[in-house]
Amino acid sequence: MTVLEKQEELDKLRRKIAACQRCSLHKTRTHTVPGEGSPDASVMFIGEAPGRNEDLQGKPFVGRAGSVFDKLLQSIALTREDIFLCNILKCRPPNNRNPLPAEIQACVGSLDIQIKTVNPQVIGTLGNFATTYIFDKFKIPFTKISAVKGIVQDVETPFGPKKIIPLYHPAVATYNPGKMNELLNDFQVIKTLLN
Ligand code: URA
Repeated sequence: MTVLEKQEELDKLRRKIAACQRCSLHKTRTHTVPGEGSPDASVMFIGEAPGRNEDLQGKPFVGRAGSVFDKLLQSIALTREDIFLCNILKCRPPNNRNPLPAEIQACVGSLDIQIKTVNPQVIGTLGNFATTYIFDKFKIPFTKISAVKGIVQDVETPFGPKKIIPLYHPAVATYNPGKMNELLNDFQVIKTLLN
């Protein structure tokens, strides 16, 4: 696919997400948060779900976890324009509760299209929900995030080989500052994958 074709596919998906009523989260959302970034990115990051700020602005990671994420990106000399950033859920769960299995099931068709379209070499999963979904999708056994984070998994997909790097969710550094160093170290692994 050319970059223009990728952009068109993502725009079409964005319009579909904006009109989506596949689960009850459409009743409480302000905006959908489809995700954004380079349609041709080498690295895709997948978070959990929009929070309050993301719901208000329609953009991923614009609150406190977003500031942490920006620092992590900066530490490996990447900008948001270099990457593609999205979430498992495209709508905010009320009061930031965990995504429900039925909501994930209703929503991940969009993420699957994003992965296939952008076709990144590297997928960084941010936190438990994204890691669980991606490990399951690519048939990698999952134990717990603290056991697998920072360890690259090579997978073959119908659209080429990919490297999966599970990571802590950046929000952990907002309530446990000690985790920031672990996140910074694990982000360095991404840098080595891109060099
Ligand atoms: N947390 C997430 O997982 N995603 C966002 O977009 C914001 C916070």
